[in-house]
Amino acid sequence: MTIDTTLDTALAPDAYRPRKKVYVKSYGCQMNVYDAQRMTDVMAREGFDETQGPADADLIILNTCHIREKAAEKVYSELGRLRVLKEQAADAGRDVKIAVAGCVAQAESQEILRRAPSVDLVVGSQSYHRLPSLLAETQGGRSVVDTEFPVEDKFAALPAPTRAAMRKRGVSAFVTVQEGCDKFCTFCVVPYTRGAELSRPVAQILGEVERLADAGVREITLIGQNVNAYHGEGPDGGSWTLGRLMQRIAEVRGIARLRYMTSHPRDMHDELIEAHRDLPQLMPYLHLPVQSGSDRILAAMNRRHTQSHYLRLIDRLRNAQPKLALSSDFIVGFPGETDADFRDTMQLIETVTFAAAYSFKYSARPGTPAADMGDAVPEDVKEVRLAELQALLLDQQKAFYASCVGQTFDVLLEKPGRIDGRLIGRSPYLQSVNVVATPDQIGEIVTAEIVDVGPNSLFAKGSRAAPASASIVPESAPTMVET
Ligand code: 5AD
Ligand code: SF4
Repeated sequence: MTIDTTLDTALAPDAYRPRKKVYVKSYGCQMNVYDAQRMTDVMAREGFDETQGPADADLIILNTCHIREKAAEKVYSELGRLRVLKEQAADAGRDVKIAVAGCVAQAESQEILRRAPSVDLVVGSQSYHRLPSLLAETQGGRSVVDTEFPVEDKFAALPAPTRAAMRKRGVSAFVTVQEGCDKFCTFCVVPYTRGAELSRPVAQILGEVERLADAGVREITLIGQNVNAYHGEGPDGGSWTLGRLMQRIAEVRGIARLRYMTSHPRDMHDELIEAHRDLPQLMPYLHLPVQSGSDRILAAMNRRHTQSHYLRLIDRLRNAQPKLALSSDFIVGFPGETDADFRDTMQLIETVTFAAAYSFKYSARPGTPAADMGDAVPEDVKEVRLAELQALLLDQQKAFYASCVGQTFDVLLEKPGRIDGRLIGRSPYLQSVNVVATPDQIGEIVTAEIVDVGPNSLFAKGSRAAPASASIVPESAPTMVET
């Protein structure tokens, strides 16, 4: 018998213990997608295989988001459905554990057990590396809560993913380089749920990137709540900026593309702007939330910059990288927002022009300064403003897509399309591109002439099936405007 040592579990002492199943459902941002994968890695070491739905899972983890009211409420509805599933499993003699992780866990801890008593474990975003021991504590029907910000290094304590898990995750990967936020925008819960800003050391990040590259990953997106505030310890003992970190990562063999998100306008340092000029691997696409175009509202939001500061920054970035396209986040109806303030936001959008955007009605988050500001904008006014803002952003997005026709893009081929002989890849601007190619080409970067555009995707020469059919649009097509 030969033992494949590339399977990390093959030599584990518990290799013959029957394996169990874990299902992780993630809400919210890319950070949660990354955390969900790492939780799966932790549980893989404990004998759990990942499953794609709750029905056959022994452990169900809801990895939650607290950023807006709607996101948090979704969790409670899901917990209601899971309670029924857990009871049915118990009747059939199966013990199913339910864990709530992520930002709702961090923010509401005990409240979750009160509202959803079927939950066995509440684990905050800084303690999920302790999942196995916390789960052990739930034996015998005890409910356990751990929402501490422990002193130990969570990242160092997490196991590396197996090669099989890495391959399954595809040719593009997220890597968390920074967590938490010290900016304290007055509407935002992140500084409370994710804690103070913390940067991972360069060596630790490089190790992770090298492993991913070995497993066939070609594109890395560096993520963090305030990623451009990155200031991790370099191998030389000094503090490295994000620009410098990306220069080093670009040297890793196999890594052809780099992206980063989410950034704060105040932290766009010279070295980072220069990276947009000098690093061919860095994609010319930047998500730079501005939230509002009104100086008065920006001040009330504690964004620490003005509209003109943002516009100057965009000019500098476009000078550094003329092909740069931008996306952003907007909030309408922040407390005290007048019609004149809203006009300033619309005027900023007209001035900059965005390729994509996410826009939201303000929702008060408990514990944040804005929640106590009073002067709330009526819901119907918020709705009218949001509709007007989204209409403008959608026009800009359509114009951007239309402008891609006739251009030639490098496309990273990611997965099979719905039609034989087609693959779906990504343009430098994160658009899905339908390309004529074979499955063995997944992971290649090909040059594609864009000849047509669908609602959320592009078609390279030869890839458009006749007649045009909506079913060709890939499932993962990004929704550019959200509510
Ligand atoms: N209300 C509405 N939108 C919010 N966001 C963050 N907090 C709130 C809130 N309380 C939006 C911001 C942020 C994005 C991730 O979510 O636009 O950039
Ligand atoms: Fe929240 Fe981003 Fe502001 Fe930090 S910078 S408080 S994460 S909106």
